[in-house]
Parts: sequence; structure tokens; C-alpha cells
Amino acid sequence: MSKQINVHPVDIYSILTFYSQFYTEPRGKNIIKVCMGTACHVMGASEIFDYISKKLNITDGQTTKDNKFTLEKVMCLGCCGMAPVITVNENFYGRCQLEKANKILKELQTGDMK
Ligand code: FES
Repeated sequence: MSKQINVHPVDIYSILTFYSQFYTEPRGKNIIKVCMGTACHVMGASEIFDYISKKLNITDGQTTKDNKFTLEKVMCLGCCGMAPVITVNENFYGRCQLEKANKILKELQTGDMK
């Protein structure tokens, strides 16, 4: 790519690593984001993150070996009144407790997600 657009590789790399919208590793089919903002943190987001992390055997920013899931910690998603909040791809799940997180994971793993 560097040769094609005549830009030094380090310049491309610096852009890739500066902007959070770009990634240097392949991402999973399902992107799970756990809000770690203040309201969500107070309402138990860390426990939810740890639970999902343990279930998928990955941590922040990692993707499962089968490329089905990427797990990320994010800051405020802008719906603090629904804390704690997780997102899966474009779907929001508010007031997410461990039971709900488990149900979401099961549905994703079995392909029953609606
Ligand atoms: S702190 Fe989680 S949505 Fe605002």
C-alpha cells in the first residue's frame, strides 16, 4: 500500500494507530463493547466485563481464535440512564446484568440472536 500511494510505511502506521476507528488486527464478527464510564462502572460494568472476558477467554481489545467475538472496553456510550450498558454490533443492551449478558452470549454463540 505504501508503494501504491507513495507514502512512507511509518506515516501509514502512525495514522492506523492514532485513530481508534482503525485496527491493525482482524476483528470478530461480533463486536461486544462494555461501557466503563462512571455510571456504568458504578452499576457493575466491571463485573459484566470480567464475566464476558472469562466466558470468551479474551480480554480488552482481543478477538477469539474463531474470529466470532471481539471484546472492548469503551467509555460513555451516551445512555447513562440505562447503565450498565453493553453493545453488540449496532444493538444496545441497557440495565445489563450477568444473567442478561449470559443470555446474549448464548444467543450469539448459537446464532439465535435477533
Ligand atoms: S457511563 Fe455508560 S452509558 Fe454513560
